[in-house]
Amino acid sequence: MAILSSHQPSPKPEPQGNDLLSPEETPEEQAAVQPDEKLRPQRLADYIGQRELKEVLEIAIQATQSRGEALDHLLLYGPPGLGKTTMATILASEMGVGYKMTTAPSLERPRDIVGLLVSLKPGDVLFIDEIHRLSRMTEELLYPAMEDFRVDITIGKGKSARTRSLELQPFTLVGATTRVGALTSPLRDRFGLVQRLRFYEPEELTLIVERTAKLLDTPLTGDGATEIARRSRGTPRVANRLLKRVRDYAQVKAEGTVTAEVARSALELFNVDPMGLDWTDRRLLTVAIEQFGGGPVGLETIAATTGEDPQTIEEVYEPYLMQIGYLARTPRGRVATPAAWKHLGYDPPERQMSLF
Ligand SMILES: Nc1ncnc2c1ncn2[C@@H]1O[C@H](COP(=O)(O)OP(=O)(O)O)[C@@H](O)[C@H]1O
Ligand SMILES: [Mg+2]
Repeated sequence: MAILSSHQPSPKPEPQGNDLLSPEETPEEQAAVQPDEKLRPQRLADYIGQRELKEVLEIAIQATQSRGEALDHLLLYGPPGLGKTTMATILASEMGVGYKMTTAPSLERPRDIVGLLVSLKPGDVLFIDEIHRLSRMTEELLYPAMEDFRVDITIGKGKSARTRSLELQPFTLVGATTRVGALTSPLRDRFGLVQRLRFYEPEELTLIVERTAKLLDTPLTGDGATEIARRSRGTPRVANRLLKRVRDYAQVKAEGTVTAEVARSALELFNVDPMGLDWTDRRLLTVAIEQFGGGPVGLETIAATTGEDPQTIEEVYEPYLMQIGYLARTPRGRVATPAAWKHLGYDPPERQMSLF
């Protein structure tokens, strides 16, 4: 007989509606022949927001350039769509060095990483995306590469196998991850610079929308930009995507100019949540409200009930929900705030109101 636990994981339903608000690249975006490379800022000066990150990097770049060295290895972490990949490419162009990019899951065999490492020229940037997903062997090859610019390879098999050490050019490893907690500490400790990316303020997102509109030759009013920025989940990738959808709408339904009103009608038509919540955000809050009276409810319980991975909830979804004041972490668990109840169309009970 099956043992029933008190919180049955319900089957994870398919996301409904659109993925306009997903901070990750959509499958269409990944498959695009010409991805949005022209929208990516090329220089540090064009990179909007993230002031602290830019300051730290400016200093590091200047100092290493004057010493003629490679920049320290850099770990960038934070939710998807905030500009990690972009920053890696900017670093290479600011330093005037070559740039190679790869993702951890594609470095399964030792020869994949060794091939990349030996191809690097002095000072080059090697960008590894999703670095928390490195295989153990690849990770161990990276340790001496990062520390001493050396890679140890095994030649031959069985009894005649020998280890040889190959010298590498000094290079800069830039790692990006949404799940910094999933990195092993030996790997993490080998990064001289560890920087977190933050959600963007509405004013910063407005600037990003204005910049993108210019690059796309789209007429846009100030309040049109604000309206899109507000619904972008603090995330430039979402802001750019929403702008494109609104631009199409403006061309067909209005006279081409993106005003606040055009933006509002377009985003309503596309079912974009006024606070920029995506499908998973809404589901996490709905489960907390409908099944646990709004909380407090433990992270593991929410994860089991929604079928989401607890660490992804903690590192990708909750930061934004906390930033907009919809979720609170308390010692006894997660609580959906009265603002979240109201946003999702529920009446918060007295008990819940008094918690805040
Ligand atoms: N600071 C920024 N200023 C302007 N545009 C940005 C900025 N950060 C990101 N973007 C835009 O958002 C998109 C997603 O950024 P990306 O670097 O791919 O995010 P991540 O690698 O963190 O998922 C890019 O296409 C870029 O055009
Ligand atoms: Mg990226």
